[in-house]
Amino acid sequence: MKRTLGVCYYPEHWPESRWATDAAMMRDAGLTWVRIGEFAWSRLEPAPGELRLDWLARAIDVLRGAGLRVVLGTPSATPPRWMLDRHPDMLAVDAEGRPRRFGSRRHYCFSHEGYRAEAARMAGVLAERFADVVDAWQTDNEYGCHDTTVSYSDTALRAFRLWLAERYGTVEALNEAWGNVFWSMDYDSFDQIDLPNLTVTEPNPAHAMAFRRFSSDQVARWNAAQVAAIRTHSDAPISHNYMGRVTEFDHFATGRQMEIATWDSYPMGFLLDRVPEGDTLAYLRQGDPDFQAFHHDLYRAVGMGRWWVMEQQPGPVNWAPHNPAPLPGIVRLWAWEAFAHGAEAVCFFRWRQAAHAQERFHAGLLRADAAPAPGLAEARAVAAELSEAPEVEQAQAPVALVFDYASQWAWEVQPQGAGFDHFALTFALYRALRHLGVSVDVLPPDAASLDGYALTLVPGVLALSDPLRAAIEAAEGLVLTGPRTAVTTPEMATPETLGPEVPGLEAQAVLVETLPPGAERPLERGGAIRLWLEHLEGTATVVERCADGTPALVRSGRRLHLAGWPDAVAAERILGDLLREAGVEPRPLPEGLRLRRAGAAEYAFNYAAEPREWAGRTLPPAGVLRL
Ligand code: GAL
Repeated sequence: MKRTLGVCYYPEHWPESRWATDAAMMRDAGLTWVRIGEFAWSRLEPAPGELRLDWLARAIDVLRGAGLRVVLGTPSATPPRWMLDRHPDMLAVDAEGRPRRFGSRRHYCFSHEGYRAEAARMAGVLAERFADVVDAWQTDNEYGCHDTTVSYSDTALRAFRLWLAERYGTVEALNEAWGNVFWSMDYDSFDQIDLPNLTVTEPNPAHAMAFRRFSSDQVARWNAAQVAAIRTHSDAPISHNYMGRVTEFDHFATGRQMEIATWDSYPMGFLLDRVPEGDTLAYLRQGDPDFQAFHHDLYRAVGMGRWWVMEQQPGPVNWAPHNPAPLPGIVRLWAWEAFAHGAEAVCFFRWRQAAHAQERFHAGLLRADAAPAPGLAEARAVAAELSEAPEVEQAQAPVALVFDYASQWAWEVQPQGAGFDHFALTFALYRALRHLGVSVDVLPPDAASLDGYALTLVPGVLALSDPLRAAIEAAEGLVLTGPRTAVTTPEMATPETLGPEVPGLEAQAVLVETLPPGAERPLERGGAIRLWLEHLEGTATVVERCADGTPALVRSGRRLHLAGWPDAVAAERILGDLLREAGVEPRPLPEGLRLRRAGAAEYAFNYAAEPREWAGRTLPPAGVLRL
C-alpha cells in the first residue's frame, strides 16, 4: 500500500482569497490529504435550520482542484451557542454536580437525546451534500478529550436507569449482582438508583463500574447515530480521531462501527502530560520512545488493521505544562515510525498557526504569517522519501499484548493500591518488550485466537471474556497473565474460586497486599515487585520468588501467572527468558533506540539526543534506518 501524508486545515479561519495558495502549497509539499470541517458548525448553520454550506463546497472545490483528497469531519464537538438555547440541559455535568459551560468545546452530554439527534442530522446534511466530493469521513473530534466521557447530568441519570433495567432485568437481580445487602444498599426499583457521585464515602464499586460501562456505551451509541446518518448517503470510509491515553470509553466498540481508526499523536505534549514514568529530560524534544508506538499498535487493533495518524505534532504545542521545540529531524522520525507500524496516512496538525484563541501558540506547518515553519521541510522530506521508498509491509508480530478498557475503569473504581492502573501496567510491559527489540500486536479483550503468537501477555485484565478464555485454552504459545488478571468478576466481586480464573493454571490467590513506593518486594533473581502482590498457593510450579520466599511467578505448562507488578529490571529478565523459551531471541537495545519489524524489512529509530550504533551503522539523533 502507498503510504501518504496530509494536513488539518481550517478554511473558515482564513480569507477565501487565500485558499488556492494554501492548497497549491500543500500539493507542492507532497501532501495527499486535507482534513477539514470538524469545528465549523457556527459557520455551517449560523442559526437553527439556516444552512450555509456553499462556502464549504467552494473550499472543497479548491482543495480537490489542487489534487488533494478530502476528509470531512462532522462538527459535533463544537455545538454552536444557539444549540444551548434549544437544549439548555445538553451540557455535561461534573462529579460535583456542576454543569460545564459554553466557551471552549466538547460541552455536551453523550446521553442527551436532543443533541444526539441534532448531531446526527448535521452529519446527514453534510453527507448528503458532499458524498460525491469527500474521500473519507471523521465523526466528531476526540471523544472523551478534556474529561468529557462521564457526565452526571439528569439526562444521564434517566438513561442510566434504563440501561440498568436492560442489563439486569429485575432490581432483585441487580441487588444480587452488586451485593447490595452490604451496608443495606438494596433497592426496590430502578427509579431509586442514583448516579454514583456525591455519596458520603465511596459508592459500591459494582455501581460505579456499571456507570463506567454505561458511560462508554453512550459514546458508542452516539457515534453509531452519526455513522448511520453518513452511511445513508456515502460509501466512503468513516473514521474517528482518538486522543492518546484517553481510556474512559471502549475504543474497540466504536472502532467496530467504522472502517478506519485514527489517533492524534503529540509526542512532546504527551511526555510532559501523560506518559507514566517517562524520562522527561532525556526525551524532552523527542517524546517518549514507546508511547507513540504503543498507540500505533493499539489503533491498528481498534481499526482492525486500518489506521492513520490524523493529527501529528509538527512543532511546539500549546497545552502541555511546557512546550519546547522538537529536535530537528524528529517530525520526520515520528512519521516514519507510524508508517513502520502500518499507518496508511499521517496528517499534520495544523496547516497554519492560528493568530487567535486557545491555540495561538500551537505550531503549524506554516507560521501565523504564512511563512514556512520548520515542520514543513520535514513533511516535505518525508513526502519525497515516500515516493522513492519501497512499500512498507505489515505482518503479524511474534508477541501479543491484551489491552482492555473495562479493566482501566475497574482499577480506577477500586484501586486497592494507589497507582494501580491498567494502562500504566500494560505500557510498562510493552516498554520492556520494546527494550528487548521485539514487535508487538495489541489485541482486544475478546480476541478469539492467539494463533501464531509465541508469547501473549494478559496483564491486569479484570475478567477473561469467553472468546479469550477459549483462545488461551487453544494457544500453542506461552501465555502470561497477571498481576491482577481474573481475580475479580465483571461485577467487581471475588470469584468463588478466588481466582486467578485462567484455564489450566493451578494457582489460587489467597491474599492480596499492595505496596507503597519504597516498600517494593525484592526478587531473589534481581529487580522487585511493586504496588501489588497476590499470595499464590496451589500446585503450579514456582518459577521466581521474592527474597522472602513469596512466589512471584508461577506456571502450569504453557500458562504463567505473575503475582505482582514487576519493576523494569524484573520485567525485562522475566520477558527475556520467556521470549527465549518461545524461540524469539531478545535483542536488548541501546538507550533510546527502537525497532519495528514491517514484513521483510525492519526499521530502526533513534529517539536519543546522541548518535546510536545499530547493525553496524550509526544513527544520528532522530535517525531512521531501514534494514
Ligand atoms: C487535539 C485536537 C485538536 C487540537 C490539538 C492541539 O487534541 O484534536 O483540535 O486542539 O489537539 O494539539
